[in-house]
Order: sequence, then C-alpha cells, then structure tokens
Amino acid sequence: MESIVDLFIGNIIHCDQPFTVTVIQKGFVAVQRNKIIAVGHSSELQNRFTSENVRKTLLSDSQILIPGLIDTHIHACQYPNIGVGMNKPLLQWLKDHTYPLEKKFKDAQFSKRCYDAVVKKTLSYGTTTAAYFGSIYTDSTLILADSAIRLGQRALVGKVNLTKNGPADYIETSEESLRETRRFINEMSKKNSELVKPIITPRFAVSVTKEDLKALGEMAKEFNLPIQAHMNETIDGIKQLESRPGDVHKNFTHTHEILTEKSLFAHCVHMTKEEIQKLADSGSAIAHCPDSNFNLLSGICDVRAFIEAGVKVGLGTDVSAGCSLSIMNAMRYAITASTALSFSKKGYKPLNYFDAFYLATLGGAKALSMDDKIGNFEVGKEFDALIVDLDVQNGPVDIFGEHTALELFQKFIFTGDDRNVTAVYVAGNKVK
Ligand code: GUN
Ligand code: FE
Repeated sequence: MESIVDLFIGNIIHCDQPFTVTVIQKGFVAVQRNKIIAVGHSSELQNRFTSENVRKTLLSDSQILIPGLIDTHIHACQYPNIGVGMNKPLLQWLKDHTYPLEKKFKDAQFSKRCYDAVVKKTLSYGTTTAAYFGSIYTDSTLILADSAIRLGQRALVGKVNLTKNGPADYIETSEESLRETRRFINEMSKKNSELVKPIITPRFAVSVTKEDLKALGEMAKEFNLPIQAHMNETIDGIKQLESRPGDVHKNFTHTHEILTEKSLFAHCVHMTKEEIQKLADSGSAIAHCPDSNFNLLSGICDVRAFIEAGVKVGLGTDVSAGCSLSIMNAMRYAITASTALSFSKKGYKPLNYFDAFYLATLGGAKALSMDDKIGNFEVGKEFDALIVDLDVQNGPVDIFGEHTALELFQKFIFTGDDRNVTAVYVAGNKVK
C-alpha cells in the first residue's frame, strides 16, 4: 500500500531563494514519509492526492507554516548557566562561570538531565536543527547525541577539544584529545542515526595547538566531517594569540587544514577584509551570534560584509553567552545589531526581517552544508517545519482581528515565542 500523504493547507512562508521570502496564501505542502513531494497553491490540489491515503492538516487564518529554525551555534552544556555572568568579557566569563560548569558534565546523570532539557526546550522554540558544542568529555557528549536522537531533533554534535589555556582540572593532553575525538566519531557511527552526526570541535585558537588543529583538520577530511569553532570573537582573545608567536597565531585562517567548505566559525566579530575573503575562498561559513556578542561586550559583527563577500551565514543562540534558546530572539538581535551599525555607517543597509528569516532557515542550512536536505519547502527536501499560531490563548501578545499572512509572519518574528509554535516536525515526524 502507498504510504500516507500528509497535506498541510494554509499560509505557507519560506525562502525559495537566498534572501527571498515567498508567501503562498491558501497554499499547500504535501509530505510523504519524511520528504516534501509537492508544494503549490491549493487550487492546484483538485484532482491531485485524491486517494484515501491522504491526511489533511488545515491551518487556521491565524496560523502559518514555515521551515524549521536552525541554530548554527549552541553550547548544550552551558544551559544551566543561562542568564548568569552576563556583561563580563569572554576570557573572564569562561574562567568564572563556564569552565567550572562544563566540568560537571563528567557526571552522566547530570549530563542526561541537562541535555534532555536543552533538546526539549529548543524543539519547543522551533529549533529543528542545532549545531551543538558538548564538553571535553566523550561519554557525556554521546549522551547529548542520544538526547537528540531520542527526542527527534536533527543535530550536529561536537566533543570539544581543549588542550591549552584551560583550568588544570578541565583540560586534555593533545594525545588524549585526538584519541577521544576518534573514539567519539567511532561511537557516533555505531548509533547509525540519519539525523544526528558528529562534528569536529576545536573550541577556539586559544585552546588548541597548531599541531592539534592540523590533526583535527586531517581527521575531518578522513571521515568527511564538518568542523566548528569560535573565531575572532573578542579583541582580548586575538591579543592573547598575537602574544604567542609560533603558536596558532592570529586565528584559524592561518591554518588551512581547518578552513574547509564544511567549516563553521562562530562570531567572527573582528575580522580583516583578507580574513573574510579567506573564508569566502574556502567556502567556510559563519554562525552569527548577536545576542552573545552584546552580552560579553565582544562587539558587533558586520554580517553584511560577509554576505557581500560570499560567505555563508547562519544564526546562533550561543547559549549561555546568549541568554535565549530561541532563534526568534537571534533574528531580532541580528536586526538590532545591524540597525545599530547602520547609524554610524553612511549608506549602510541594515538587515531586515526577511534577511533575518533567511539566515534562520535556508542560510543556516547552507552554513551547515545541509541545504540539499533542509532549509525550505523545496520538493525532495525533508519536511522540517513549524506550525506557528499568532492567536493562542495566553500567547505573548493579544490579537485584535484579522491579519494578512505577511503581517502574521512579521508578528512571529518580532513578538513570537514558544507559545506560538504549536507543532514541530523533523523529517516528517511530529516532535511537538
Ligand atoms: N570561546 C571559547 N569558548 C567559548 C564559549 O564557550 N563561548 C563563547 N561565546 N566563546 C567562546
Ligand atoms: Fe560559543
């Protein structure tokens, strides 16, 4: 028997092209198993999908169907600290709050409790895909992967490499770090998950040696894996590298093994034109984390400069330097940060809500090299989607009458939260 076709009928909104938001009023998306098999206007539905194997979901006038949101940078193990230690610069914040917390993830039970909570909560906010940093502990990071697999989230999960400049009781030797990364990759492959995969995760240039980086770049190549790290987040971090000539010096753009078309660098607040060009030339991406960049006083990343240079850009919450698990919040901060830049740059065109939505969906998919699978409602892609309802009881705002689909979309971006996300689908499975 043919498998069931799920028809979602109502206001459909997605980016069918980069930076282009398409609104299909009275539209439909047809899904079979995990994949999108047709998209269009509901008038085209006559004579199609007439068999009994059709299940219809009719959206109300206050609902929109959008692609799942993509968090390209989040530290799952920092969730217990969310909202704590803000307004301290990065290196101080790491020492006072973050490393002491991450150390606790040696404990498997604590890991499971925290990781289940992060995955549940991010799914509830509509994050269908996340690129996670775990801790330096392999077994604990495997528990994070298990949480994502069990709860149905799509994820890249990284065991962190930290061999330099960490506290004495939260650090690895280079040999241990590489061996454990290999073990992590091996254990992940045994899980055989379609949705959850490993990612090589050197924390930042301050925390690894040049040799570690080369070896990790080679390991990424050997297993065809993506790479994630922080880059040029703060002036202090860059200075720390410059004061250690002969080491990683400056940043990852000087270590070509780590610059690949599947590399993703968080922050990139303080970059020269040449460094941006290197990212563009290598096909690497950045994770823009504007909330975090304000909280740790890091600066404002000029995202437009990366976009114009042809660098792929996604959005990250960067919990817990970012103080929200919601990519809706990241969209708002991206708009605010860009608008703030425009006040001092003549002729600068700030990002608008269409741009922010692109970065949160198709842009994020490209940044994670997953745009062959997710990011919009293209036929053949997997169905990662949210039903968003702007008129829910006890929602964040009240609704006074009818709105167009585009107005509902704007309200979602500027006022939405998890209460508005009434259903979440990952690869066709309803996970909220
Ligand atoms: N740089 C190195 N580690 C971290 C981290 O955990 N968070 C942020 N925001 N930056 C970092
Ligand atoms: Fe981070």
